Amino acid sequence: MSDIEELDTTAPDLHSFEPMPDEGVLRALELMNSGALYRYVSASPEGSEVALLEKEFAEYVGARFAVATNSCGSAMHIAMLCSGVRPGDRVLSSGFTYTAVPSAIVGIGAVPVLVECDENLCIDIADLERKIGSGVRCLLLSHMRGHVSNMAKIVELCQEHGVPLIEDCAHSLGASYDGTPTGRFGAVGCFSTQSHKLLNSGEGGLLVTDDEEIAAKAVLYAGSQETFWKRHFAQSPHLARLQNHVPNLSSRMNNLSAALLRAQMTVIDQRIAGYQQRYATLSAILSRSPHIALPQMLPGVTRCPDTLQFRLLFSQDGVDRFVARLGARGLPAKLFGSPDNPRFFKSWQYIDGIEYVHLPATEQILKHTADLRLPGYLTAADMRWIGETMCATADEVAHAR
Ligand SMILES: Cc1ncc(COP(=O)(O)O)c(C=O)c1O
Repeated sequence: MSDIEELDTTAPDLHSFEPMPDEGVLRALELMNSGALYRYVSASPEGSEVALLEKEFAEYVGARFAVATNSCGSAMHIAMLCSGVRPGDRVLSSGFTYTAVPSAIVGIGAVPVLVECDENLCIDIADLERKIGSGVRCLLLSHMRGHVSNMAKIVELCQEHGVPLIEDCAHSLGASYDGTPTGRFGAVGCFSTQSHKLLNSGEGGLLVTDDEEIAAKAVLYAGSQETFWKRHFAQSPHLARLQNHVPNLSSRMNNLSAALLRAQMTVIDQRIAGYQQRYATLSAILSRSPHIALPQMLPGVTRCPDTLQFRLLFSQDGVDRFVARLGARGLPAKLFGSPDNPRFFKSWQYIDGIEYVHLPATEQILKHTADLRLPGYLTAADMRWIGETMCATADEVAHAR
């Protein structure tokens, strides 16, 4: 450890957040002064920040409908209920994702069937092909860390087998495949606005769909009581018909969150371009290291890289030494395959029989792949520092072998 201590440790801070745009702060203050925080206090959708956000977000991703929720977890839960998933059903999902995704399946009483990932952190199409025919009710596909899988093939497989597709877009706002944004390939797309995401309201979520009946059910599941659905922009005869037939899961978003999100929507494209530019600087440096491999995007894919994933071409011992050295230099990379990482399927002990789930490729990849946050306030100089530090650390680990 002595050589680590001698190094310059002026690492950039990777733990903070970007401030809210001034416009959002002012609107939030107005709302706080008025006390009108509940989305349904205004009798018209024009007076509800949440209804306005739904309209603007739907337009942004090109969907007919958006329904705001209190989290992406709630959005996924509601999306599955709207798609007919019931207790005991088998739901295909990504073997590499965050614990909230299989939790949403287990929360319905359904059974997750996990699919392998590949070295580019996309879903493994061959494994998906093997498992999709086995009587599954739906595919809940996670665009984990914004890496977009072969959507043409996935849509084809889902159509062939009559399996509805729900997309977990918690990390993939700003990502697209052949020009189509993620969230627009299946029946429903689910987004998160928790603080570590591109849009930050502390907690929050949105689901998008083109299906009028799904949208109506989602409004009711999210918690529109009485006839408050009249306070949404999108209207449908399904709303009155289903009003007393859909349980209220109290998963609404509030006006304060929506006001902060609406202000961020005005700078979202600028933010995405900034992330992409900074990542280009970092990835160019890392591509020079023979010890580090970056996930490659499929042709036609764009991504908003607000995090870095990298595979270490070392033995397990080398991987552990690299992560420890990098941490000592102020870069807190986390190994996806650590037993306590909630993104490692072996940590999902609440799934019945998880000890028998065998995903050898995913396990091997995650035990060699680490993750680093790249907050939006970093500069190009920060990216160069991170890149050079990682390359130097990898060289040291390699030469100490
Ligand atoms: C991949 C992924 N999906 C879904 C979620 C759930 O999002 P939320 O915290 O908004 O429920 C998360 C949370 O970080 C996530 O990482």
